[in-house]
Parts: sequence; C-alpha cells; structure tokens
Amino acid sequence: MKIDDISLKIIPDSRGKDTIEVEFDDEGNKVFDSVPSGKSTGSNEVVVLPPSQEKEILSYIEPLIKEKDFQSLEEFDKFLIDLDNTSDKHKLGGNLMLALSIGFTKLLAKTQNKEIYQLIAEIANHKVERLPLCFFNVINGGLHAKDSLPYQEYMFVPQNELPSQNLNSVMLLLKELGEYIHQKYEHLRMGDEGGYEISEKDPEVGLKVLSEVMKRCNQVNAKISLDVAASSFYKDGLYLVGDKVQTKSQLLGTYQQIIDKYQMLSIEDPFDEKDETGFQEITAKVGKKVWIVGDDLTTTSPERIKIMEENKACNAVIIKPNQIGTVSEALEAVRLAKSYNWKVIVSHRSGETMDTFIADLAVGVGADGLKSGCPLQKERLVKYQRLIEIEKLISEKIPVNKS
Ligand code: PGA
Ligand code: ZN
Repeated sequence: MKIDDISLKIIPDSRGKDTIEVEFDDEGNKVFDSVPSGKSTGSNEVVVLPPSQEKEILSYIEPLIKEKDFQSLEEFDKFLIDLDNTSDKHKLGGNLMLALSIGFTKLLAKTQNKEIYQLIAEIANHKVERLPLCFFNVINGGLHAKDSLPYQEYMFVPQNELPSQNLNSVMLLLKELGEYIHQKYEHLRMGDEGGYEISEKDPEVGLKVLSEVMKRCNQVNAKISLDVAASSFYKDGLYLVGDKVQTKSQLLGTYQQIIDKYQMLSIEDPFDEKDETGFQEITAKVGKKVWIVGDDLTTTSPERIKIMEENKACNAVIIKPNQIGTVSEALEAVRLAKSYNWKVIVSHRSGETMDTFIADLAVGVGADGLKSGCPLQKERLVKYQRLIEIEKLISEKIPVNKS
C-alpha cells in the first residue's frame, strides 16, 4: 500500500495537554487517529516527544514513507523501528511512531473493506468468539486525583456476557455511588479518568464504599479490580500509603486481607516496578485466586514480559500501545503473554483522546478485558461504545461492508 499524504494536527487531550492527531490519505480513503499519554508512567516506556517537535520530524520522514509500497503492517512498523533505530524510540518519538502505526492499521482496514478489529484478528491469527470484560474505573486516587485515596484506581467489573449489559450496570452503579459520596463527603469531584474522588487516606475505604454501593443498587454480579500503581508511593524501600508507612511484607498482608474480604478479580502494580520480589511473593501466594497484573512492571514490552514470566512475577498484563510505540510490537506483547497463559487487559491512558482504536485492538486480539476509565468522561465512554458497536456487528452477523 502506498500512502498519498500524511498530516499532523496538535489537539488537546482530556487533561488539556497537547497531543497529536494524524490523518492518512490514500486515493481518497481518509483515516484519523490520535494518541494518549500517561501520568503514572513506567520507567521503561518509550519516549514521548513534544507535539511541535513531532510535526517537524514528520516533515522529514513523510517523503521517505511516501516513496515506499508497504505490503503489511509488520513491514510498515519495521520501517519506522529501523528509521528510529533507538531502544527507547527517542529519535522519532514513541507518540509519533504510534500515531503513524495506528493510522496505517486503520487505512489498511479501510482499503480492504474490513472493520479494524477484523484486520487485527487476522494479523493476530485470532478467531473472535467473545468480547472483553469492561474494567470501569469508578473511584480515582493516587496521581490521578487531588485529594483522594492513595491507590490509583478502584474498578467495577460487571460479569455479564455483553458490553452493552455491562455499560448499563455501571451507569446504575455510578448514579448510586455519586449520591453516596456526595451525601457522606458533601462534595463530588472527579479525577483524571472521570471516576469520583474520596478524600480519605485509608485505601480500604474505597473498597468498603464500592462494595456497599454495589449491594445498595443490586449490582452484585460483578467483581472489583484495583490498580494500586504502587510505584507512585514507593520511597527508599518503603511504601507511603496515605498516612501509614508499610514494609513490603505489611503491604502484602494488606492485600491478603483485601482478597479475603472483597470480591476481588485483579490487582495491578501492587508493588513498585523495581520491587520484583514483591511481585513474585504476591503471585506465589494469591496468583491462583486473583490476577496479578503488570503495568509499570511490564510496559507492553515483549522483552520485559519474557523476563517477568521467567521470574514468575505476575500472571496478567496491561497492554498500552503507547508504552511500546507500534501496533506490531503491542501484538507481539499480547502473543507472548497469551503463550504464558496470562490474562490480557488492553488499556487507555489517563490523558486520553476520542480515538477508539483500543476497543478494536482488545476485540481483535481476544483480550480478557478493556480498561478505559469511567464512562462519565466522553473520551472513556466512546471506547466502551465502540465495543458495543462491535457487539452488534458480531451478534447480527452482518457481513461488514463499509463504503
Ligand atoms: P497512566 O495511568 O495512564 O497515568 O499511566 C493508567 C494506569 O496506570 O493504568
Ligand atoms: Zn496501571
């Protein structure tokens, strides 16, 4: 496939920070995509360059891209990787590389008259038979909030079969949760991902509130997931959790109590990204009951995923394409994780755009979950809505025929 034109625009993300949107044009077929950015980032993530600099870089590489006739996504991504030729993608910038890689994927799907998730499923050699669970982040804390709990995300994960049913469940829950928090704390504030803040220091309060509200509105066919993002409160070998200082073994003890008390499905980044023994201990102790999810630990890197499997440090993984910089490498990360029988959760970032690519990615690779924040914020909602659109396409078995 040859590309006629690529243009880049600077747009604001959900936090009002600049990010990039690119447009690909090929004989009148136009596609757009935009890329997000994180706040609680892992130290092994690829480099994000300022959008104004990316504009300049694109003007250098666009003629090189236009010269080529790419036969596959793999070939396109390899071209970008070779052009950059750095381990952290600092020359071209991981954000520009990902924007180009997603743009190419979308254009390829469009020219082949396929839905994006269908094209991805073909590349990943996956037969789409079920849809991912939705990990709705309903209470925000950590770095994503101003005055809230020390753990970063409290997620409500309804266990219905269909995303449309799960979106209905979370909407019922959010109404009740909003009223509960407003009544108890006399304010109702939202964090970066659209979930509510609770101004308390004890992380268990978030779990108490969430499970109480789940009962009140009869949304009990659901589980709870946490993203602790523990790197954000780790200092000199200790964990500063609210107004408490915990050692690694005390924190592990807290998690064990939590797992016994609440309907837990998963715990993400329970320890600092460099505290591999913490991850190993928790995976050995409770890994059969709950998913121990790597995010800052693994950074969507096939290399790091391999190491964490060897070390038995986790049994599930967050896949964020912008941690690694190309779609092909994210697909390789999923392939590896699945070959280890890990659970796979495709995820957004805390600074998001209206792009819905990750919903197609989650379906196309057969992910166990899609984590896209709280649907009260539109940048999050559109991704769950895209999942519902795919649900309809699949259930009606419409032969997809886009004009
Ligand atoms: P981030 O947060 O996008 O700020 O890194 C999301 C997460 O930690 O999962
Ligand atoms: Zn995380």
